[in-house]
Amino acid sequence: MIITTPRLVVRTMQREDLDTMVAWPPYPDPLDAIFNWPHMLRENGTTDIFFLTRSSDARRREWTILTNSGTVIGHVGIRDIQPRPHSSRLGIGLGLPYTGQGYGEEVLRGFLDAYFGPLRFSRLYLDVSLHNTRALRLYQRLGFRELSTFWNELGPAGEHAYLDDPRYDPIREHIRWSAATVYMRYAAMVLQAEEWLPPQS
Ligand SMILES: CC(C)(COP(=O)(O)OP(=O)(O)OC[C@H]1O[C@@H](n2cnc3c(N)ncnc32)[C@H](O)[C@@H]1OP(=O)(O)O)[C@@H](O)C(=O)NCCC(=O)NCCS
Repeated sequence: MIITTPRLVVRTMQREDLDTMVAWPPYPDPLDAIFNWPHMLRENGTTDIFFLTRSSDARRREWTILTNSGTVIGHVGIRDIQPRPHSSRLGIGLGLPYTGQGYGEEVLRGFLDAYFGPLRFSRLYLDVSLHNTRALRLYQRLGFRELSTFWNELGPAGEHAYLDDPRYDPIREHIRWSAATVYMRYAAMVLQAEEWLPPQS
C-alpha cells in the first residue's frame, strides 16, 4: 500500500529506513525516551532482529513516512490486528526535526482514509500518555474519542527521579508513585469507520 498526501508519501517499511531513523537526534525530555526507537535498539545491537520480528508478525504492519522529495521523516504502524471487528492499535512517531509542522495531521488523514477505505478496517484504537498534549490534541482533532484512562507503568522509581523537577508540575496529576514504581496516566481512545467516512447516499 502506498499513500500520498500533498507533502508526504507512506510506504511499507524497509530495513534501511531504520538506519535513517537511528541518525535522528533523540527527544530530549526523558519522559519521551520511548519515542527514540530505534535508537534504543541500536544500543542493544538488535536493529536487524527488531525489523525481522516486526515484519514477520502477522498481527502488525509498519509503514515509513517520507516527504515528496524522499526524506524519511517518521513511521506509522498498527499492531494487535483483529479480524472481528476488523480493528488494530495505532503507533506513530516522527523524527524530532519533523514535528510541529503539521506532518502528523497530514499523514494521519491520509492513513485513516486508507485504513477505513481500501484496507476495510472498522475500528482504530490507541493509547496516549496524558503528558503528550500535542498527540492528544491531534487525535481529538481527528475525531478519536476517549474510552477510559488507565495507569501505565513507566518504570522503576529510581530511574524517574527527574520528575521531581518543577517543570513537570503541570502534569503532576497524571503521575503516581509507589515505593518502587512510577506510573503515568494514559487515555485509551478509539475512532470508528462510520465516524471517519462520509455517509453513503
Ligand atoms: C504526535 C505527532 C505524531 C504529531 O505530529 P506533528 O506533526 O508534530 O503534529 P501536528 O500535525 O498536530 O502539527 C503540530 C503543529 O504544527 C503546526 N503547523 C506548522 N506548520 C503547519 C502546516 N503547514 N500545516 C499544519 N500545521 C502546521 C500546527 O499548527 C500544530 O500546532 P499545535 O500543535 O500547536 O496546534 C508528533 O509530534 C510525534 O511523532 N511526536 C513524538 C512521538 C509521539 O508522540 N507519538 C504519539 C504517541 S501516542
